[in-house]
Amino acid sequence: MADSFDAIVIGGGPGGYNAAIRLGQLGLTAACIDKRGSFGGTCLNVGCIPSKALLHASERFHEAHTDFARLGIKAQVELDLPAMMAQKDKVVGELTKGVEYLLKKNKAEAIVGEARITAPGKVEVKTKDGTRSLTAKAIIIATGSDVAPLPGVTIDEKQIVSSTGALTLKEVPKKLLVVGAGVIGLELGSVWRRLGAEVTVVEFLDRITPGIDAEIGKAFQRVLQKQGFTFQLSTKVVGVEKKKNGLVVTVEPAAGGEKSTVEADIMLVSIGRRPFTDSLGLDKVGVALDKRGRVITDSHFATNVAGIYAIGDCREGAMLAHKAEDEAVAVAEIIAGKPGHVNYDAIPSVVYTFPEVATVGKTEEELKAAGIAYKVGKFPFTANARAKTIAATEGMVKILADAKTDKVLGCHILGAEAGNLIAEVTLAIEFGASSEDIARTCHAHPTLTEAVRQAAMAVENWTMQM
Ligand code: FAD
Ligand code: NAI
Repeated sequence: MADSFDAIVIGGGPGGYNAAIRLGQLGLTAACIDKRGSFGGTCLNVGCIPSKALLHASERFHEAHTDFARLGIKAQVELDLPAMMAQKDKVVGELTKGVEYLLKKNKAEAIVGEARITAPGKVEVKTKDGTRSLTAKAIIIATGSDVAPLPGVTIDEKQIVSSTGALTLKEVPKKLLVVGAGVIGLELGSVWRRLGAEVTVVEFLDRITPGIDAEIGKAFQRVLQKQGFTFQLSTKVVGVEKKKNGLVVTVEPAAGGEKSTVEADIMLVSIGRRPFTDSLGLDKVGVALDKRGRVITDSHFATNVAGIYAIGDCREGAMLAHKAEDEAVAVAEIIAGKPGHVNYDAIPSVVYTFPEVATVGKTEEELKAAGIAYKVGKFPFTANARAKTIAATEGMVKILADAKTDKVLGCHILGAEAGNLIAEVTLAIEFGASSEDIARTCHAHPTLTEAVRQAAMAVENWTMQM
């Protein structure tokens, strides 16, 4: 095993493993180090993948209960939670093994251990067999993020859980209290609601999913309320007491005021994530962090210390696996002397509830704030033939285009398959396409993609479906 590499990547998540693989493809030697014991980072082990496996299974369970009779299917449905968890674990296991295979295939050395940067170009790794000292021309920090703590509340991953604990509950809680109406709270809240929990979401702000286009956010909240979610907006959790029969959570208005209590079996803390760079030795080598603990980098992902780069959740920007992956490819190409680049205007984001929410580019609020004149085209799924056939008529597609040039500036979708539908508009933004380009592109019938085309047609008021 070599101790000297072209690049050392610290972290084996979507940022780290993709960087190591791309370095290998470009003919550079790389080591990818992760302390977790299995590769794939937060995303594969305790994030994107297990949550999507449970979202899929719980949605099928819910559908079998609520929709089979309408479709003329008679079935007796019963939950087998251990089996549902086992299928999730199987998917995770296969994908994490897949990452190890890809690292090997691309000649990157996968090292299990905790890494610390001791000097520019030098990394020490504590492995189960002892300490290894490695050297490299470049070091990439891809150490990801961790759950943001709620002051005064201790996460025990049993009764008071983060997303990690919420992915491994042994039984369906009767009452689940979710703190934070963001992506994790609504996705994992959906999982347990579908399996039978009563879900109350306490949110500090006066709206859910801050950052998402406000019109879509409001419609999303209405849909979730119809499904049985209870929202306490403009409210904060100020304390939690463990009692014999569960938790008593004290809440008060965000602006202060009279306190009240909510009972719950399980409380999920999902108020955001913070960059994770603990025990990396960054203070010793002088790598600068911003006020939020994120590694400061320039547009080429270089930190203030020559030869040290950072990508993914530990630097600024959306905490998304595909953003980390794009930065990984770009930084590897930059280190290999190529012009690596990420287009931050074309990074989609998806909430995998039912229906899904998917967005790319600017929101109406952002365009207004920037003083950019825009046109809007909207199309509801109630008027889409395929949506009718699959009983998924909730939601709409909204396209925002520049008032003068017609260039697509943003797209916001609430609806079934929104996460897949957004890809077309992401490509349009990447190619600098106009809304007319989408409107004049033939879309297969009957598909949900026609709703995207109709929304693009609506920008110039020539929608053809009802
Ligand atoms: P990470 O994936 O966090 O990987 C960092 C790795 O570095 C970790 O494995 C850690 O063990 C390792 N590490 C840290 N310090 C050291 C050290 N000193 N030495 C060695 N190793 C170290 N994003 C999406 O795009 N889509 C989704 O559907 C989605 N769902 C999510 C669901 C949940 C419940 C959560 C929590 C997150 C989800 N995310 C999702 C976010 C996504 O997981 C992250 O954006 C992504 O994993 C970031 O990748 P990364 O490589 O920057 O960091
Ligand atoms: P989030 O940032 O999406 O949402 C946190 C919510 O908590 C916000 O609405 C915020 O206003 C609220 N909040 C903050 N402090 C609060 C308090 N004290 N009391 C009540 N509410 C409070 O964060 P979340 O859901 O924890 O997810 C973290 C990150 O993980 C996301 O930002 C996303 O980047 C990533 N993720 C992505 C997914 C996807 O792409 N589908 C799925 C899950 C996570």
